This record gives sequence, C-alpha cells and structure tokens, in this order.
Amino acid sequence: MTIHTLDAPTASALLEWYDRHHRDLPWRVSPPMAKRGIKADPYRVWLSEVMLQQTTVQAVKPYFANFLMKWPTVTDLAKAPGEEVMAAWAGLGYYARARNLKKCAEAVASQHGGIFPDTEEGLKALPGIGDYTAAAVAAIAFNRQAAVMDGNVERVISRLYAIATPLPAGKPLMRQKVALLTPADRPGDFAQAMMDLGATICTPKRPACSLCPFNGSCEALRLHDPEQFPVKAAKKEKPVRRGAAFVAVTSDGDILLRRRIESGLLGGMTEIPTTAWTARQDGETSTEAAPFNADWQSSGTVTHVFTHFELRLSIFRAAIADRVQINDGWWEPVTNLEAQALPTIMKKAIAAAIPLAFKTAKG
Ligand code: ADE
Repeated sequence: MTIHTLDAPTASALLEWYDRHHRDLPWRVSPPMAKRGIKADPYRVWLSEVMLQQTTVQAVKPYFANFLMKWPTVTDLAKAPGEEVMAAWAGLGYYARARNLKKCAEAVASQHGGIFPDTEEGLKALPGIGDYTAAAVAAIAFNRQAAVMDGNVERVISRLYAIATPLPAGKPLMRQKVALLTPADRPGDFAQAMMDLGATICTPKRPACSLCPFNGSCEALRLHDPEQFPVKAAKKEKPVRRGAAFVAVTSDGDILLRRRIESGLLGGMTEIPTTAWTARQDGETSTEAAPFNADWQSSGTVTHVFTHFELRLSIFRAAIADRVQINDGWWEPVTNLEAQALPTIMKKAIAAAIPLAFKTAKG
C-alpha cells in the first residue's frame, strides 16, 4: 500500500470501527449494551483491569468468572479470607497484586461505603491502584477523559506517530499523544477501542493495516515498516538462579506442602519444600538439601521466568512410608491440589514428579 499524504487521526474514526468490530468480553459494556442503558460496574472494570495486567484476555476469562461467582461485589471480596483470595488468584502470577487487590477492596468497603471513587485522583489514592488502573477505571467505568495506555496502546500510538524513542523512555511522549487523541465523549470506549485495535489489527507481527481505521493516518505505515515500532531498548539477559524442590508422596497419595513466609517473592503462598534460590553455580541443587532423608529420585528440571530472574529448579521425588512433620508443613491429598494457593512454578514442579497431579493446564 503506498500512501503519500496523511490525514490527522481522529477518535471518531476509531469509535466507528469499534462500534462494528469490538470484542464481546465478560467485563465489558459493549456499544449495543450501552444503547440499552446498561452501565459499567466499577468493580468488574477494576477487577478485570488488575487481572489483565498479568496476562491475556483469554487467560483472564476463567479467573474473572470464578472471582465474580465467589465474590459478586467489592464488599464480598473485602470480607473474603485472604487465603481464599490467594488460592483463587494462583496461576495469574505476581502475588503482591492479589494482596493489593484484597487491600483495595477493603479500603473501598470501609472508607468509601463500598462505592469506588469516580476520579483518577480518588482511585489512585487506593492501595495497589497505579497510573494505568486509575486511568482505565476512570475512563471505562466513569466516562472520565483519562489517557489510558497499556502495551497494546503503546504499539498503536508509536506506529501512528512513528515514535522512534525506545521504551520506556518514549512513554511520556506516547502518553501525551494518547491524551490529545482521547475524546471528551466516550473516552472509555475510545480506550477499549485502542486496546482492541492493538490486540486484533495492530498486532506485533504482520499487522492487518488494510483493515485499520487509522490506515490513512499512520506514519509507520507510510514508512512501509509498522513492525519496527515500538522501538525496544536492547534487553538485558535475566540472571539465572538455581535450587531444588522436593515432592514427597505417601502411599495414601498425600503430598507434603508448606507455607512460604509472608514477606518476599510469592509470600504467603503454598509450596513444596524447596531450598533457597541462589545465583551461585554450586547452589543447593541436590538431594543433600532435602528436608529429610528418603529415597529421593530425580524428576528432572523445571524452569520459570520471574520478573527479575530465571529460576531452574531440580525436582526430586520420594515415596514415603511414614509422614514426616516439618515447619509450616502439612500433608495434602494430591486430589485436592487444585484448591491450594500454589503458584505456577510449584504446579510445574509437582507436575514434573506427578504427571497427572493437575488435570487442567491452566498455566
Ligand atoms: N486489556 C486490558 N484492559 C482491557 C480492556 N478493558 N479491554 C480489552 N483489552 C484489555
């Protein structure tokens, strides 16, 4: 496609596209629903936005449905036992977010009578609500003219204006462009339309420019190379840490679990006994580090990428005749593992030793 002169992009071009091509999502009040007078529920908007910062729309759907079934309102979530919230969150990752989710629900319930504040500033004052979530909830739930920018929006806007400054340094300029384009009328739909465009048309690879409502306005398309935007700064390799983890199983099919200490990575979550995770090449990765003597057999290695490091865990399994008691530990039937607050790395580790421990491969 050869384009010589560009029109200025308009919010209305995008909104017309959205009216026809929006995705129907469980937390969304789509344009036809809005026409019937249905209003966005701030609790659903907030919950979905927090979850969507973790993973994809597809992966969030079952978690969102489960949370709403268990806790239909923010007041219900505020009253829920922390353990249950962590267990329902398990698999989404970044568990500090689940703890903040609960704290935020408690603050809304106790300080705001169960009603979310309806401005960006008011929202940002709540625990765990940062710039992104405040803007998204203000726009989508309260129709405030807030500039909403996530990864999808960064891609769309950096292409539209051919912004060559790499991320994250390019962010302020991108935000400024989003703010200038965000309309006073339907800012929430505009934000969601930018996200849908980024997810379905303006994709990282092979964007479908011929279908894009901005194709007469896009600088990157004019340069014939949309994929080069957003420009990313060279990535530093993540450091590797190593450790060992131990799956002890009784003949009754019980497995030894324990609770991690409250502070730090995966704080308060459930785990199988594991060594410390260290950057040393000669770290504790053998049966010498086992929590007790048994016939430990190797079950291979599992790898998991955290925000700041890559973890390689050597997994060992032992069949145990007599139950052993350890600090913060208990024996749990393997059939009941789905109900535990096990983070993904621990599910992977258990599955390496007991292949059928989890019937569903949630993550
Ligand atoms: N990603 C994050 N928030 C979203 C939303 N509200 N709609 C679609 N995709 C999203």
